[in-house]
Amino acid sequence: MPTETVYGLAADAENAAAVAKVFEAKGRPRFNPLIAHVADLSEADRVARFDAAAWRLAEAFWPGPLTIVLPYRNGVCDLARAGLDSVAVRIPGHATARALLAAFGRPVVAPSANRSGRPSPTTFADAMEETGAFAAVGLDGGPCAVGVESTVISVLAGSVSLLRPGSVTRAAIAEVVGPLAAGGDGARSPGRLTRHYAPEAPVRLNAVAAGPEEILLGFGAVQGSPRWALSVTDDLREAAANLFRLLREADRERPRAIAVAPIPSGGLGEAINDRLTRAAGFVG
Ligand code: TXA
Ligand code: MG
Repeated sequence: MPTETVYGLAADAENAAAVAKVFEAKGRPRFNPLIAHVADLSEADRVARFDAAAWRLAEAFWPGPLTIVLPYRNGVCDLARAGLDSVAVRIPGHATARALLAAFGRPVVAPSANRSGRPSPTTFADAMEETGAFAAVGLDGGPCAVGVESTVISVLAGSVSLLRPGSVTRAAIAEVVGPLAAGGDGARSPGRLTRHYAPEAPVRLNAVAAGPEEILLGFGAVQGSPRWALSVTDDLREAAANLFRLLREADRERPRAIAVAPIPSGGLGEAINDRLTRAAGFVG
């Protein structure tokens, strides 16, 4: 299933046998819960319990690349939630995803369609290469416009925390619900493993030039070959959209390492640097 962020491997959220196949196809640990994708706010309301802050966030950012973790209500099997009493919900913005969800009429769980630990697929071909063999049907929605997975925030017991940065930035969320609770750094999100989003080649961060047999992913003033530019200018949206595709393409060349130019840390840069430090295996 295409979404505006990355491709997902989708299953009926209530069908435990189908959900089990998703975990198996990805090689995903069973303790890592999936996101329930829904067509609209009334379906979201059946799945989870929204407080006032959660409704404000939903109205501000849905359909779009924001996932909200809330107290669980109904319609998503235990396996998909990894047995938790919370559930992650999102209304994606991609037209094909929305048409699929509207036609299905019930929640669809969809983790990123990569095998566990690998970069998420942002093109139909990459999705099919990763887990397509397990899927009954593949929907080609073209390249994903955002390119990094949705922002994940939890709204639990009156406190809003950021579990995974994405293109809906910390600042944009704070404009709607005020500053985020301290310490919500992803530690409580079961899926944030040490080495994640990782290609086969080692990843070297904050590189200012390519070393021997390295490929340099360029940004701003630091550039190698134009083919390997995350952005030829210093456009964070362009860099996010290119990130996983270029990591995959560079990996196919079997370089000694993939060197990556420094990426500024503000705004969407928080999400890009989060994925890069995990791809390099630096975050526990
Ligand atoms: O952009 C996206 O979100 C994509 C597209 C396909 O929608 N999906 C995606 O799913 O990235 P996945 O499974 O790769 O990442 C879901 C993240 C994981 O880090 C997981 O641990 C976290 O959401 N998550 C899910 N349910 C949770 C819960 N109840 N509490 C805390 N974290 C949760
Ligand atoms: Mg994933």
